[in-house]
Amino acid sequence: MPYPRNLDDTVVVKDITPELTTLSCPFGRVVVEIGARAAVIKAKFTDGPGIILVSPIPICDKSVNALQNLSVKYLIAPNMVHYMALREWKEKYPAAKIVGCKSLSSVKLKALGIACDIEISDFDKILTAKELNMTDIADEEELKLIVIGGHQNRELVTFHGKSKTIVVGDLIFNLPPTEQYSLSKLGFLDRALYATGVGSYLQSKIPNMLFKNGENGDLALNELLNLDFENIVMCHGDTIVRDAKSFYTGFFKAVL
Ligand SMILES: [Fe+2]
Repeated sequence: MPYPRNLDDTVVVKDITPELTTLSCPFGRVVVEIGARAAVIKAKFTDGPGIILVSPIPICDKSVNALQNLSVKYLIAPNMVHYMALREWKEKYPAAKIVGCKSLSSVKLKALGIACDIEISDFDKILTAKELNMTDIADEEELKLIVIGGHQNRELVTFHGKSKTIVVGDLIFNLPPTEQYSLSKLGFLDRALYATGVGSYLQSKIPNMLFKNGENGDLALNELLNLDFENIVMCHGDTIVRDAKSFYTGFFKAVL
């Protein structure tokens, strides 16, 4: 099942810090339920507080309430495959600027009738908000982005300085997706699959599966370690709060 029809009944809203809230819900790919998660970042802009929404889940009452009546300034697509909910958010918040990696507009968003306002073509390098021309963000240390060019899905990692958090799409998984199914239930097949340790197996394979012949992948992954992060908010699996660099280096031990 992709997203559940009764989304509001299943979305878990959690404040990681006062400036960072996660919206977690069920989501399935092929036969495996892996969950989905959006990150709502409250930031200071030159005209007051606003929202940076990373990897949005579809609109529902809970996701809109999490914005606390602030306007959405940026919608960030974390890679070439997490983009389906962008159109409905752009329609609801037309002033929001869409941020994505090179080719997202031409390959994926064009069919939805939307486009990136900021498209990042400089890969494997940490870029500040100022370098990305996101000059309305009051503190340029608040947001940094890096595209992992060697990743199969061309992963765009968001670093939020105030909460010391990186937000990723398919770069890192932490299965089973316990929080994402805490208000609903995993199906029998998925419970059985995860009981066999399929989550750990998938995680051990992902670093090699998702990188194209190691093309700059290890360089970009090492570059990411230069960011001062303590938490990892990921789309698939449970959020890592505190000591996230140990998890990160363990996850990528095969390629770092
Ligand atoms: Fe994904």
